[in-house]
Amino acid sequence: MITFFILLLGVGHNHAASLVHNSTGSLDELGVCHCSVVLPDSTFPADRFEMLQISNYNLTISVEKQISKIQHYESTLIIYMERLVNLTKRVEVMEMGGISYTELDFELVKLEIRQIEALILQMKTSMNGTNVLVEALYVEIHNLSITVSQLEVYDKNNVLVIRREIAALKKRLENCEKNQTNPKPDPPADSGTCQHGIITNISKPFIVQLNYYGFNYKSGGWGSDSLAGADQNIQWVAPMTTDARMMNYLRVYPSYNDLLMYQHNIDRGISSPNYGQGGGMIMFNKTMYYNCYNNGKLCKYNPQLNTMEPSVNLPNAAYNNRFSYSSSPYQDIDMASDEEGLWAIYSTEENAGNVIISKIDPITLAVKQTWNTTQYKPAATNAFMACGVLYVTRALSTKREEIFYMYDTKTNKEGWPRVPLEKPKENVQSLSYNPNDRKLYMYNEGYLVNYDLYFTSPQEDKSQI
Ligand SMILES: *[C@@H]1O[C@H](CO)[C@@H](O)[C@H](O)[C@H]1NC(C)=O
Ligand SMILES: *[C@@H]1O[C@H](CO)[C@@H](O)[C@H](O)[C@H]1NC(C)=O
Ligand SMILES: *[C@@H]1O[C@H](CO)[C@@H](O)[C@H](O)[C@H]1NC(C)=O
Ligand SMILES: *[C@@H]1O[C@H](CO)[C@@H](O)[C@H](O)[C@H]1NC(C)=O
Ligand SMILES: *[C@@H]1O[C@H](CO)[C@@H](O)[C@H](O)[C@H]1NC(C)=O
Ligand SMILES: *[C@@H]1O[C@H](CO)[C@@H](O)[C@H](O)[C@H]1NC(C)=O
Ligand SMILES: *[C@@H]1O[C@H](CO)[C@@H](O)[C@H](O)[C@H]1NC(C)=O
Ligand SMILES: *[C@@H]1O[C@H](CO)[C@@H](O)[C@H](O)[C@H]1NC(C)=O
Ligand SMILES: *[C@@H]1O[C@H](CO)[C@@H](O)[C@H](O)[C@H]1NC(C)=O
Repeated sequence: MITFFILLLGVGHNHAASLVHNSTGSLDELGVCHCSVVLPDSTFPADRFEMLQISNYNLTISVEKQISKIQHYESTLIIYMERLVNLTKRVEVMEMGGISYTELDFELVKLEIRQIEALILQMKTSMNGTNVLVEALYVEIHNLSITVSQLEVYDKNNVLVIRREIAALKKRLENCEKNQTNPKPDPPADSGTCQHGIITNISKPFIVQLNYYGFNYKSGGWGSDSLAGADQNIQWVAPMTTDARMMNYLRVYPSYNDLLMYQHNIDRGISSPNYGQGGGMIMFNKTMYYNCYNNGKLCKYNPQLNTMEPSVNLPNAAYNNRFSYSSSPYQDIDMASDEEGLWAIYSTEENAGNVIISKIDPITLAVKQTWNTTQYKPAATNAFMACGVLYVTRALSTKREEIFYMYDTKTNKEGWPRVPLEKPKENVQSLSYNPNDRKLYMYNEGYLVNYDLYFTSPQEDKSQI
């Protein structure tokens, strides 16, 4: 109950009294009327309370709306996630070249991706980006759409033509096999040892084949096991994504003949966070060693067992295309192997982008010893190790390269030889030496190429270096 006094002056008296429901009044000695007015509870706060009630009601409705919206989104999210998984699988199959897709397949997948993308975007904006699930889904679909548009640029007809060519080639190879029992020449008698000197000449290139994805996959690496004395039957091929950055697939063949005939392959998808970066990967002791994606670490993966070991930091190594080679991006850390073991060829800021060589422990990935050179890494097209000597190449033209720099880790001496090297295609993406057959393996714009190397006798070395 609220009680208050009103000073009533003669004129207003009747008017005021009619407004209130109940009043008690008395006149004082001056003739002024003192009135006590009693207002019932409900009258005073009513309109404000009503307002509050309405706005509360309004709020309740909007909260309920939001809740039902979220419930709706959650159920649609589940459906879209299923569709997305389905779609991802289909894109992967296309990417792996497992089916011969047509224009129509492509358009369908693209349409579906566009639909999902639009819906997720809508959800994202209406929920104001606060939902982690929606956010993740958005990233995923966005990635998928990038993959598909990358796939799209590959010439579909060419892929089909290549398949036909491969089929024809297989047949020819099978015939050839019958005629010639040993297509791969025997390795040199003293292979795996360092009785030979330095490289003086290189044979003409031997084009083994086009990588299994076709010539749009211009970057990658290939070879057999580069550990001296390792089983030389196993062949590995790692075409990278077309931006030359990521290694996410790897194929292993049980033999050289299987490689030639594209058969009996083991295909491995390498997933995040184990992606490789750049074309510097190598197989050593059945294990792939490579620069991990988007950091300065070394990764170690056994494709036959499909086992991944913890990555290890390569101290101070520059990465992410800081000091790559001139003809292949993201190859900041180039793994190499020779008669003496496993090496990393890379650069640091401290050495001003010049090549650094480190001997790597293949078990722990620790650096055993390091050598600084004076050769600026981005000025080279590639590099490899043979018998503890670093050989660095550069381009002379679109058809020719040369070894123009060498560094002997035993004597700490550098040299400037001029050993020419023919190349089938302009850009050398990776170059590595195998001490078992003493060949040089090159991934050359999608083609798997190798070379025989000619060495001096050890006595001749000293005059050269
Ligand atoms: C006025 O209020 C008094 C006290 O609250 C009550 O006794 C009386 O009945 C009321 N008169 C009218 C006319 O409502
Ligand atoms: C409640 O919602 C109605 C209809 O949307 C609107 O007209 C009214 O202004 C709202 N009231 C408040 C207090 O928000
Ligand atoms: C996934 O795709 C297959 C074939 O492409 C189809 O039969 C299946 O219904 C799809 N599943 C969903 C949940 O869309
Ligand atoms: C989204 O949230 C931000 C801050 O969290 C706010 O400034 C913005 O107005 C919101 N947008 C919408 C559409 O609700
Ligand atoms: C999408 O791609 C980016 C960079 O390409 C990567 O960092 C991220 O992990 C990917 N996300 C998913 C969900 O695949
Ligand atoms: C295999 O040898 C036979 C007979 O010597 C010859 O006719 C045939 O052309 C050869 N095939 C190939 C692929 O060299
Ligand atoms: C180097 O090898 C090439 C190609 O086999 C050959 O033509 C050339 O004569 C060789 N040069 C020397 C100096 O042996
Ligand atoms: C090769 O791998 C085996 C087993 O994984 C290991 O015992 C051996 O020491 C490795 N050899 C080299 C040279 O790393
Ligand atoms: C290589 O160069 C760096 C920076 O100049 C230096 O700190 C390091 O000791 C050098 N290492 C060797 C083995 O000479």
